[in-house]
Amino acid sequence: MVKITVVGSISTDFIIETDKRPDIGETVEGQNLSTAFGGKGANQAVAAARLGAEVSMIGTVGKDTFADELLNNLKENRIITDDVERVTHLTSGSAMITVKDGDNSIIYIPGANNALTAERIEKAQETLKASDLVILQNEVPVEAIEKVIDLCSEIDTPVLYNPAPARKLNEASIEKVRFLTPNETEFSVLFPREDMVEVLKRYPNKLLITSGSKGVYYHDGIEVRLVRANKVIPVDTTGAGDTFNGAFAVAWSSGLSIEESIRFGNLAASLSIQKKGAQTGIPTIAEMKGSSVYEKEWHIE
Ligand code: RIB
Ligand code: NA
Repeated sequence: MVKITVVGSISTDFIIETDKRPDIGETVEGQNLSTAFGGKGANQAVAAARLGAEVSMIGTVGKDTFADELLNNLKENRIITDDVERVTHLTSGSAMITVKDGDNSIIYIPGANNALTAERIEKAQETLKASDLVILQNEVPVEAIEKVIDLCSEIDTPVLYNPAPARKLNEASIEKVRFLTPNETEFSVLFPREDMVEVLKRYPNKLLITSGSKGVYYHDGIEVRLVRANKVIPVDTTGAGDTFNGAFAVAWSSGLSIEESIRFGNLAASLSIQKKGAQTGIPTIAEMKGSSVYEKEWHIE
């Protein structure tokens, strides 16, 4: 069983379904409001756990009732929460998500996720050391992210850094991580006005650009490749990127090639978007195996 640690956000999603997004000053009638478990970090952890990895989460929640449910949800998904701290002064993280025609837009309120300090990362060092791979995203403070990247590079633990939501990055951090996985929007914030092909060439087998329904671009050392996404009609794409990252991490840590791991991630993401909510549709390994396009060469331990 591969060991994956996710350092990141744990949040409650408030999901509004609507036929029309309001313009400034406009009021529109929506169709439905629901709550669901989310947070990019937690979504990635749930994906890795459902796909068979032993997953630890490092993060912070509040002392409110949301926190009880957030922690329970992680535990129900077999995620180890020993390094999730309950901080006193902040409300647990949340996100306001508007879903229209299957696509989403999100306002994220970090709350307690912002309490993840470099000091807390240091306290969880042993967990990082024991991991085959560490996943990171940008819904926690920069100081925590930099600490994880530095520590992991010292102890030779590979890091998959999903720079979502977009935030500028220093070159040293890019050098130190094993994988960098922006979507197209995030790519243009990280590498403004740069040509995608040129940047892909600069980071062969490291930079994976997830491009929604098109698929994933990367450079294999010889040429740029597009690993096509599986065609499905989306119900809710929220968390598709997180599912891809969690699934890719499990596949690659299990010894699959980058290309195979992208295909594995693409399949997981395509299944996840066929249900409402970020985590509801994230498949188990059994559900993956039930898909007609699952490849029998994929040995996931
Ligand atoms: O990537 C999707 C996630 O981002 C949601 O679950 C929400 O919490 C947001 O921050
Ligand atoms: Na979904």
